[in-house]
Amino acid sequence: MNQASLHRLLSQKGKDSKELFDLRLATNLTLIQKQFFSLYPEERHEKNFKKLLQLLPKLYLERPEALRNQDLQRLKSGNWYQSEKIVGMQLYVEHFNKDLKGLQEKIPYFKKLGVNFLHLMPITTRPKGESDGGYAVNSYLEVDKKYGSKKDLLELTSALRKNGIYLMLDFVVNHTSNEFSWAKKAIKGDKKYQNYYYTYEDFTVPAEFEKTLPEVFPETSPGNFTYIPEMEKWVMTVFNSYQWDLNYTNPEVFLEMLANLVKLTDMGVDVVRFDALAFLWKKIGTISQNLPEAHNLISLFRMCLQVVAPGSILLAEAIVAPTNIVKYFGEGEKRGNECEVAYNASLMALLWNSIATKKTQLLYKSLMHVPPKPKDCTWINYIRCHDDIGLGYENHLIQELGWNPEMHRKFLLDYYCQRLDWSPAKGMLFMYNPKTGDGRITGSAASLLGLEKAIATKNDDLIKESVNKIIMLHGITLAFEGIPLIYAGDEIGTLNDYSFQNDASKKGDSRWVNRPRQDWETISKLEKEDSPQLAIFRTLQKLIKIRKENTVFADHNNLEIYHTGNDHILSLERTHDAKRLLVICNFDENPQVIDSSWIKKLGYFSNGEPLDLVSGEKIALNSALLEVMPYQMLWLMKS
Ligand code: GLC
Repeated sequence: MNQASLHRLLSQKGKDSKELFDLRLATNLTLIQKQFFSLYPEERHEKNFKKLLQLLPKLYLERPEALRNQDLQRLKSGNWYQSEKIVGMQLYVEHFNKDLKGLQEKIPYFKKLGVNFLHLMPITTRPKGESDGGYAVNSYLEVDKKYGSKKDLLELTSALRKNGIYLMLDFVVNHTSNEFSWAKKAIKGDKKYQNYYYTYEDFTVPAEFEKTLPEVFPETSPGNFTYIPEMEKWVMTVFNSYQWDLNYTNPEVFLEMLANLVKLTDMGVDVVRFDALAFLWKKIGTISQNLPEAHNLISLFRMCLQVVAPGSILLAEAIVAPTNIVKYFGEGEKRGNECEVAYNASLMALLWNSIATKKTQLLYKSLMHVPPKPKDCTWINYIRCHDDIGLGYENHLIQELGWNPEMHRKFLLDYYCQRLDWSPAKGMLFMYNPKTGDGRITGSAASLLGLEKAIATKNDDLIKESVNKIIMLHGITLAFEGIPLIYAGDEIGTLNDYSFQNDASKKGDSRWVNRPRQDWETISKLEKEDSPQLAIFRTLQKLIKIRKENTVFADHNNLEIYHTGNDHILSLERTHDAKRLLVICNFDENPQVIDSSWIKKLGYFSNGEPLDLVSGEKIALNSALLEVMPYQMLWLMKS
């Protein structure tokens, strides 16, 4: 039982909000203390621990009453984030409908599609020019003027709450921009704030770090340190040179960041996306990712936030190896006490592998290989986000298939990045590192899945095929356990946006190719004539509706994967009480057959032919084999 479940038990007793806060603090205190002193040894940091104990009630008292009430409702009602009723969308406010007010006007659009969870990309102040899309933060709480005001944000969050729409915002926990107030003071020579970052007088320590630190943006921001002449010091900048890594070995940094985190949730944020959290702790001689101290720190944030604002939860943005991702749900005594939600980056990357290879063996091997998640945690399932697609597969699993990992990755880059004439994909190569041969892929889902090329060549068959692929991949994320997250525009098959190439502050970063503007013109014409865009929109709208109406889709830790004997097929089952739903997908361009006896054994044909919820048709068997058409997805419901 994790800490949240304990709090739920305690909250049934009719106590008032403040008493429940005290109980939560008492319940979490041992863990908080342990984690705090594991990072900040007691001999030196008792004073800081006392500061933390003073901070928590202060933050609680500052929390708006409406949110405190919501916290208690959520505590009582259970793990709301595991519901089948949640379907998400990710978007850049300025690319969607100008600003926060514009976004609010589009609430009816979300409702029409069935979306009730929004991830807004960073909206706080940032440097002019390059800012990594706002991931270089000048402030954690101040809304950038181009999006509107804090009042607009509060109006939006309250409108979203009224409409039953959850909100996720980023907490860029690993770094600030070089214009953040702390960085500015550090540049001016203030030692206190220089200690908020990893700063060094010469390159001796950085050189030690560099021996093992990988490079995140090798093309545009090689190395992990930047020299700041005004400060006459080097500062650690793992991402871009204008993103300064926060020094969490300093407890002051933790305390300030905790206050920022809580204040962010006080604006009505339901899910906090913990950005780049794998990087939170640095140690010479390591790659400084996924370190045990980082996990203690994240859990410490979690345990404190849970005491103050139990209705808000954390999402782990850990785009790391599959076996490392689940660790962000917490292990050992931290199990279920770190992040409630994590990006299912492994599934995402594996789906792209299956499209390119037309095979599912690596998908199966990897899914079977990942340890089960804690029962109170869940995934965000997505086919792509605002970032690149990394090829984070386990090498030994690729090898077990008889493939050479290096060559295999090269094939995938070639397939998606326009190096193979026959490939339908139109993606771009991102951060290719000639030293290591590593590279990642950018491109909108539709362009990567062939729609751009198919439309350009006016090839109707390819258009159809691409539409089916787009629907199938989204369908898998809708059927998997967790929250499906659609990237805005993908619901109408929006193609690559090449306009970033004409913008000096963006042209070095091809991730902008997959961050297109919302195409309201196409949307306004949707219902008027048949088009690939309409086909995608209508089908997703239908699948979302089906998902919300069927409790099998809720995350009851009820997902089973079945081997079918056909390497082109993915099959998984969701169950809840007597309800069962079997998902079957064909990743090949040819029709495929599978033996149906095991499906019969599962009882799908016991009461006549089962209904395929996707096509709305009953599935008849003319032989012992079940035929699945190219890129077809079946959702068979057991009657
Ligand atoms: C995360 C974001 C990415 C950003 C990075 C640095 O990975 O998703 O867009 O560049 O963090 O903040």
